[in-house]
Amino acid sequence: MKIIAAVDEDGGIGKNGKLLFNISKDMAYFKKITTGKTVVMGRKTYESIGKPLPARRNIVLTRDSKNYQGVETVSSVEELLRICDNDAFVIGGGEVYKLLMPYCDTAYITRIFKRTDADVFMPELSDTDGWRVVEKSEVYHENDVNFQFFTYKRTL
Ligand SMILES: NC(=O)c1ccc[n+]([C@@H]2O[C@H](COP(=O)([O-])OP(=O)(O)OC[C@H]3O[C@@H](n4cnc5c(N)ncnc54)[C@H](OP(=O)(O)O)[C@@H]3O)[C@@H](O)[C@H]2O)c1
Repeated sequence: MKIIAAVDEDGGIGKNGKLLFNISKDMAYFKKITTGKTVVMGRKTYESIGKPLPARRNIVLTRDSKNYQGVETVSSVEELLRICDNDAFVIGGGEVYKLLMPYCDTAYITRIFKRTDADVFMPELSDTDGWRVVEKSEVYHENDVNFQFFTYKRTL
């Protein structure tokens, strides 16, 4: 599987159940990379989006037996791995990034060069775990922030 996330300078990804930033270029990047693919998310992220992401297979991790329209739910990693293809994208949030990072070999990380008071974080892609930057974009500017797209691959 692959990870896609937007993180602040401290690894922050969310606050009060919402995203930290609203950057249209990053939204377009997310859409371009994930459209036509499977997206895997935690129940809290799903509820914050409020509906399935269009033109994508949506899988939500939850221990509850809720039924969301247009979404497949799974209650464990084992169940997820049984039904999920290799080309799926883990789209958050913090709990689910942490849970599924060991099953991922590629990460698309948008780094936003700003400090925030985030209350949800994602783990660092550490080089001791084999994560290496294989591609990076130029630095862009929008809504008063600088940001940059990084692609990581894991070799271990
Ligand atoms: N910056 C970004 O790129 C980005 C991307 C996505 C989300 N976010 C932000 O991240 C925040 C949400 O993250 P979060 O960590 O609070 O929640 P989350 O990871 O979205 O969802 C957590 C939920 O996933 C389910 N879950 C977790 N582990 C499970 C397991 N082993 N088996 C079955 N279900 C499992 C549980 O649902 P139940 O409680 O229903 O059992 C749990 O409460 C929001 O602020 C959101 O905006 C940021």
